[in-house]
Amino acid sequence: MTPHVSSHQWHLAQRPTGTPTSEDVKFVTVELPPLAENEVRVRNEFISVDPYMRGRMNDVKSYVPPFQLDQVMDADAVGRVIESRSPELAVGQLVQHFQGWRDVAQGDASRFTAREEVPSVASSVYLSALGLTGLTAWVGLLLIAEMKAGDTVFVSGAAGAVGSAVGQLARLRGASRVIGSAGTDEKVALLTSRYGFDAAFNYKNGSVSRMLREAAPDGIDVYFDNVGGDHLEAAIFAFNNGGRAAICGAISGYNAEHAEPGPRNLAMLISKGVTLKGFTIPSYQQHAPEFFREISPLVASGEFVFDETVIDGVENTFDAWLGLMRGENTGKMLVRVAAED
Ligand SMILES: NC(=O)c1ccc[n+]([C@@H]2O[C@H](COP(=O)([O-])OP(=O)(O)OC[C@H]3O[C@@H](n4cnc5c(N)ncnc54)[C@H](OP(=O)(O)O)[C@@H]3O)[C@@H](O)[C@H]2O)c1
Repeated sequence: MTPHVSSHQWHLAQRPTGTPTSEDVKFVTVELPPLAENEVRVRNEFISVDPYMRGRMNDVKSYVPPFQLDQVMDADAVGRVIESRSPELAVGQLVQHFQGWRDVAQGDASRFTAREEVPSVASSVYLSALGLTGLTAWVGLLLIAEMKAGDTVFVSGAAGAVGSAVGQLARLRGASRVIGSAGTDEKVALLTSRYGFDAAFNYKNGSVSRMLREAAPDGIDVYFDNVGGDHLEAAIFAFNNGGRAAICGAISGYNAEHAEPGPRNLAMLISKGVTLKGFTIPSYQQHAPEFFREISPLVASGEFVFDETVIDGVENTFDAWLGLMRGENTGKMLVRVAAED
């Protein structure tokens, strides 16, 4: 008989209005039962915090179901098997799964996917460059926006997890010019010095439309939208004929209490023949092997760089998520779970 073990986890206490506060969540300790046959117990190493989790706090139908009140807020995570009653997963195996926002997870072995160690890279890479983040960049740029060599590409949220990957991929795939926007001067400097962007601007410094026009005097062919709002409107103004946008996210409105009106210039889509196409990554998982084959050697060789902003302690997960929404991250925002004492 295996001993009982505690799991420290985050539950949704009530559905937030506007920007969530500490009143909306609670950090609780749950006693886990002994493992049943074919189950494993996993100690998480890294937990993902993501913008889309804001939508799951609302009780609305979407591509992922809403969080349930008084239930753990699940999320992408990587961890290591610490106890096993499954012949498939041995103790010590690195696994990826969807039982984040807690330190210890357990369940049927089929809910955990074995991952290979990537030499000299932390296991967190499966939540950033080689995980859903990287796949989102790859699918959005190549399959949704159909970027081709010679295109001028604009990326918003460009110093974040997805955006910094998009900029590098555009450069590797032969874009003629890559432009990014971000919310601090430090991030803007990184875009050109580290992530291969040709030009960048701080969207808080003035009109996005004007700054984009200056950065892309010959217009843009592709827009990768992480932000929505004024960025999308500016991109529509800047599009060349036949322009294509991958509508990936709209973070500028996630905490809004009332929906803002959309871009005022949608009629320009007609005359320019522009396509705006949304997507959600769960519908494109079949492309993960192709993505992985292209990007993993580039990560291993250091040709494709990625940054992670790591907050320590499962007890700080909600604060890490709030920080992400305020732009306190460069690259992927993650929580590192302390090893057991
Ligand atoms: N479609 C999909 O399947 C899919 C999958 C993954 C992610 N996404 C979306 O992709 C986007 C990026 O996600 P991520 O995980 O890579 O997050 P991220 O970009 O690493 O982090 C979010 C960033 O958004 C920026 N931001 C916050 N408020 C903003 C505002 N009002 N205007 C402009 N920028 C703002 C902040 O950077 P600054 O300092 O630059 O403001 C912050 O760092 C999000 O919209 C997310 O929902 C979609």
